[in-house]
Amino acid sequence: MPQFLIDGNKSLRGEVFVQGAKNSVLPILAATVLCSGQCIIHNCPDILDVDFSIKILKYLGGNVFREGKSIIVNMENIKKWDVPDFLMKGMRSSIIFLGAIISRLKKARVSLPGGCQLGPRPIDFHLEAFKKMGITVKENNGHLYCKAEEKITSTNIKLPFPSVGATENIILASVFVSGEIILENAAREPEIVDLVRFLNSCGAKIKGEGTSKIIIEGVEKLHAAEYKIIPDRIAAATYMAASAITGGEVLVRNVSKIHLREIVRVLKMCKCGIIIYNDDILVKAPKRLFSIKELRTSVYPGFPTDAQALILSLMTVSKGQSIFFENVFSDRYKYVRELLKMGAKVTIDGKKAIVDGVENLNSANMLATDLRGGAALILAALKAEGTSTIGNLRHIDRGYENLEENLKNLGANIKRS
Ligand code: EPZ
Repeated sequence: MPQFLIDGNKSLRGEVFVQGAKNSVLPILAATVLCSGQCIIHNCPDILDVDFSIKILKYLGGNVFREGKSIIVNMENIKKWDVPDFLMKGMRSSIIFLGAIISRLKKARVSLPGGCQLGPRPIDFHLEAFKKMGITVKENNGHLYCKAEEKITSTNIKLPFPSVGATENIILASVFVSGEIILENAAREPEIVDLVRFLNSCGAKIKGEGTSKIIIEGVEKLHAAEYKIIPDRIAAATYMAASAITGGEVLVRNVSKIHLREIVRVLKMCKCGIIIYNDDILVKAPKRLFSIKELRTSVYPGFPTDAQALILSLMTVSKGQSIFFENVFSDRYKYVRELLKMGAKVTIDGKKAIVDGVENLNSANMLATDLRGGAALILAALKAEGTSTIGNLRHIDRGYENLEENLKNLGANIKRS
């Protein structure tokens, strides 16, 4: 199986351009199912999850191809309303096609989604909302069969938790509603804003994006549009963290600084020097990072759960003790057992992780457990003395474009064997 070999303890220097946002391009590609005509989506990262989305769109009957960082997609002749198991199981966000297919074809059949194992990944919020909208949902042997008997009717929906996926699925299922859908306790993530801006550029009538209350006024149809995906804030955070842990000086380019406020706040607490230009952020690391005492993950605009593993990795070599509280997913510390192989001192107690910083980590042979946990192992290996290996690269390739090339250009000694 392919693996990364990383010869650590080299300070990273230089500049890196950040990819388009994985968690934005996936729902927007699903949204093209609603459009008639040819959409052109720019700044699409070349990652496995995007490849999967293209496969699903093609299976449904779409004409889809990639030209560099742009994806051209025409779903005019969509024929199928079921997504086969092998495509559903490939990634978590395949469930996002459910709302779009129901909107367009009034019925859909999917199997329960795959994706990172961060604890149970239920979709009860999605399905409860669909039922409230008048969509019938039947489940048998791991498959969901959804049908909108009549036109989807106006209703008010209040999510029990501001779920990103549920918010996206409800928006996609509501675009052609007769009347309007009012969604409360909606997720406020930048990727939701990007999805709504794309849909509105196609003629949808949605407002409140970025707030907890989103109102979708139904329209008859959507035309095609040309759209550019926002920068990936977690990929940006990953390169910022790589500078921080290696005592480096890295200019992370093409970012949206508003989306990185919490990352900048935390890196400053670790005593990193941060200089913000227009769309670029320079991260100058101290000789040794300070501990951050306490970090609680939350929904946006709080500290992002997707960056928890990145910062925990930094804290394993910081001066002092840090305590993490993972408040979004129930099992998002799987990667820690791999960090312990390197001599990290971390104790897990439910949602809490206590990290006692050590001077140095030893190299080790590790396996990525999920996408961001895998990135955390790479960060630790970049710091450690000696050569570490990281397997299960599939997890990492799902979400990071050209990761090893970018790190190599910053001076890292990393190769894929
Ligand atoms: C999206 O996942 C992202 N994935 C995740 O990024 C991100 O961590 C997460 O949002 C939170 O920001 C994509 O956008 C493709 P949720 P999603 O629904 O939609 C519970 C990465 O590394 N829940 O906001 O699955 C759920 O179990 C990935 O890029 C229910 O209980 O996240 C979790 O505890 C990892 N029932 C919490 O809500 C539901 O019906 C948040 O989940 C839905 C969710």
